[in-house]
Amino acid sequence: MNHPKKVRLVEVGPRDGLQNEARPVPVDAKVTLIDALSAAGHSAVEAGSFVSPKWVPQMANTDQVMARIRRKPGVGYPVLVPNKQGMNGAIEARCEEIAVFTAASEAFCRKNTNCSIDESFERFAPVMEAARKHGMKVRGYVSTVIACPYDGKVAPARVADVSERLFRMGCYEISLGDTIGVGTPAECVAMVDAVAARVPREKLAAHFHDTYGQSLANIMAVMERGIAVFDTAVAGLGGCPYAKGASGNVGTEDVIYLMNGLGIEHGVDLDAIARAGREICAALGREPASKVAQALKAKVAA
Ligand code: HMG
Ligand code: MG
Repeated sequence: MNHPKKVRLVEVGPRDGLQNEARPVPVDAKVTLIDALSAAGHSAVEAGSFVSPKWVPQMANTDQVMARIRRKPGVGYPVLVPNKQGMNGAIEARCEEIAVFTAASEAFCRKNTNCSIDESFERFAPVMEAARKHGMKVRGYVSTVIACPYDGKVAPARVADVSERLFRMGCYEISLGDTIGVGTPAECVAMVDAVAARVPREKLAAHFHDTYGQSLANIMAVMERGIAVFDTAVAGLGGCPYAKGASGNVGTEDVIYLMNGLGIEHGVDLDAIARAGREICAALGREPASKVAQALKAKVAA
């Protein structure tokens, strides 16, 4: 098998995992979760977003979360920022890293951020300028890299266009989101290869949702094509508020278990992640979606 010796996991549970929760998750629970995730060995924990509270009420307390987490040296805590107003919030909260987000399909871009793809880039211009001024790192997300819930299949060339624009604009890494989790390995490989013709492969990350249970297979497939950064959510939490029926990201526990089995280094402790997952799931009153988390939970209970 052709795979890297080492991968980097980006934990998106506190943002992507929680943003869709209907009931407000208290700041305390978020801080406990984020601190547990960094203590477990993650080098990147996406901590929240500075978006409109009318659009995503759950993320409204991101400023308080950022004020209270223990910022572990060497760990990045990116927050999502859609425009200058969000950037001002991120600067005030002393964030050192942000993530901008757009899509490869016009309809999703509009449903998610109320603007066209071109307009999303117009919004990013002052954000990038402020990021440079404040020495902040910027990650870039492309949503709907396989298909759009409104427009259907998305051509890999479209994903490559948008990814290249984000990269040229100054994003240090481009995370490729299968927002509605419909992709299968051959499609993901074709998409990644199209993007890698325009953006260096080592600058790409895979962000797979597990709606159709394909995300581990998709991770294996793109890893064999040189992708070594994977976004994961503890317990497999989540969904997207603007993509009905989309389920959570691939579970961090599942990806760690896979990487451990392959002898691939990642630096994250499975038991510690599983504990963090059980705690947040208990607070939310739900079972983990991650299969590995379920198996470990049953073992702990036995
Ligand atoms: P808009 O309505 O076009 O914005 O929304 P606007 O500039 O016209 O402002 C309207 C109101 O929003 C004003 O308030 C602004 O102050 C406020 P009002 O005067 O009506 O009281 N506003 C803001 N408030 C706080 N923070 C801000 C902000 N900006 C404006 N930054 C906007 C545009 C982008 C703000 C809106 O559409 C929005 O917040 N959308 C939420 C998008 C989102 O968070 N989606 C989920 C994350 S993306 C995702 O999950 C995909 C990903 O995981 C990858 C994948 O899986 O594909 C990353
Ligand atoms: Mg997502």
